[in-house]
Amino acid sequence: MANIRSNTYSIIIGENSLPSLNKFITKKNYSKYIIICDDHTLEKCLPTLLFHCPKLHEAEIIELESGEDKKNINTCIQVWGALTDIGADKKSLIINLGGGVVTDLGGFVASTFKRGVEFINIPTTLLAMVDASVGGKTGIDFEGIKNHIGSTQNPQAIYINPEFLKTLDTRQIKNGYAEIIKIALIADKVFWNKLKKLKEIDEFYTEEIITKAIELKNKIVLTDFYEQQLRKSLNFGHSIGHALESALIQQQKDILHGEAVIAGLYMESMIAHALKLISVKEKTEIQDYLKRLFKPISISKKTQQSILHYITHDKKNEAGKLCFSLPKPIGKFQLYNDVAINLVEEAINAYIKLK
Ligand SMILES: NC(=O)c1ccc[n+]([C@@H]2O[C@H](COP(=O)([O-])OP(=O)(O)OC[C@H]3O[C@@H](n4cnc5c(N)ncnc54)[C@H](O)[C@@H]3O)[C@@H](O)[C@H]2O)c1
Repeated sequence: MANIRSNTYSIIIGENSLPSLNKFITKKNYSKYIIICDDHTLEKCLPTLLFHCPKLHEAEIIELESGEDKKNINTCIQVWGALTDIGADKKSLIINLGGGVVTDLGGFVASTFKRGVEFINIPTTLLAMVDASVGGKTGIDFEGIKNHIGSTQNPQAIYINPEFLKTLDTRQIKNGYAEIIKIALIADKVFWNKLKKLKEIDEFYTEEIITKAIELKNKIVLTDFYEQQLRKSLNFGHSIGHALESALIQQQKDILHGEAVIAGLYMESMIAHALKLISVKEKTEIQDYLKRLFKPISISKKTQQSILHYITHDKKNEAGKLCFSLPKPIGKFQLYNDVAINLVEEAINAYIKLK
């Protein structure tokens, strides 16, 4: 079992993490336990949690409908209402059991209910384990804008049981693996060299891989919690990736965040090479690995225009200039604050030809 220390809390990873949650809450003097889950994690994950944490048999359960489109203010109103009906108070503990939607929304609800109650994250998707639940960002989508409303609030602890991932389909595993690839490319070349050798889906989410990815993200977050500089490095693949994701969501196409990020990593590697930050060998190495694991996404002319629109309105931009985090070389990064739009266009055109 691994134990990663963040500033005020621990991230406990391994099959035995849940029994240690039982010990943690037994020691504390909470007035009530409230588990927030969605319809899928209620069925697939809650029985395991209750088996390993007998203390939680007395918990109240709040079940959300699953899906990104439920990560909104209406769901928050329902949860704040349910907490009020249950009689939750400042001494209650909220336990978020689910993917990034549950940990983002549950964390936000906890940080605002009665001006903040303590919460614990138990992420159950690979994306939530290595990214969403770690780093203290909580939030909801608002008027079509992702994560527009939120807070920065750390949980009391994070408990990660990789066994939960066994009920997740391949598409969802790859969705989370995208963020693992990203962190390796900007933070650890040795880790990247290890990932390059992985081919089978069940190799993507071993305890060792999850622990390493979290350690790398946690180190960055600890140095720059409020994203003044270093934390921006986590945006590699996300400038074009977010724009592509927004463009496809607007057209009501089925796209997962990690899938858009993989396309973003592919195109932004091209830009990193054009700016002479990585060699042609490194660019090819990254792109070959991505192509081997992920089918390219179809980008129409309309989507291309839409990507360019979103990228010029990206909240990461400063003074109207396009800001990117790019590898320099693999395993390190450079924040680039003035990427020319024609480089983005060229990268999209090259990506389209992959089809
Ligand atoms: N706060 C952050 O720093 C941060 C970082 C990255 C992503 N995010 C957010 O995370 C969200 C995406 O998270 P996600 O990909 O986990 O999506 P999700 O929470 O919607 O989960 C994906 C699907 O898997 C189901 N599921 C969850 N665990 C399961 C399990 N063990 N077995 C079977 N099904 C299971 C869910 O019910 C859902 O249908 C987005 O809203 C994104 O904005 C936040």
